[in-house]
Amino acid sequence: MAGEVRPIRINGTEVDLPIDPRVSLLDFLRETLHFHGTKKGCNQGACGACTVLVDGERILSCLALAVQYEGRDVTTIEGLCGEHGLHPLQQAFIEHDGFQCGYCTPGQLCSAVGMAAELERGVPSHVTGDLLAETMALTHDELRERMSGNLCRCGAHNGIVAAIAEIYAEAAK
Ligand code: FES
Ligand code: FES
Repeated sequence: MAGEVRPIRINGTEVDLPIDPRVSLLDFLRETLHFHGTKKGCNQGACGACTVLVDGERILSCLALAVQYEGRDVTTIEGLCGEHGLHPLQQAFIEHDGFQCGYCTPGQLCSAVGMAAELERGVPSHVTGDLLAETMALTHDELRERMSGNLCRCGAHNGIVAAIAEIYAEAAK
């Protein structure tokens, strides 16, 4: 029906969008819905701490207005683990010491899941050589380039890269 406000789905549950069209998706998640796993770092698109998935694609929720995502499916870190426990990538982060303070971790995890989906769809990155290749391997350079939007002030990047490579490098070949 024209003018009808559709809800947004957060981790599989429908909720009403905010009345105020100025509210960012990040603030809506954190302040209204109390999904505090999604972190606010720079609040200007530079750190990746606020990364969430929308219909499987990674976005920076600090740069998104909640009302833009009417009817869409948003997955935050709280929705990443399944009914059987941690997502395999979460387990790999633990095993590879992929975090210290953990502030960047939810964004790193959501971003890596979105990155893997981009590889499956054949979306090239800045360092992809063959733009027409049907399959794309998650090489070391590809991984670092594709995750370069997610900063870690603790310097846990080596563990982060190792964890992501363990889960997705083989699958990307
Ligand atoms: S808080 Fe969104 S990119 Fe830093
Ligand atoms: S683990 Fe502290 S910012 Fe990454």
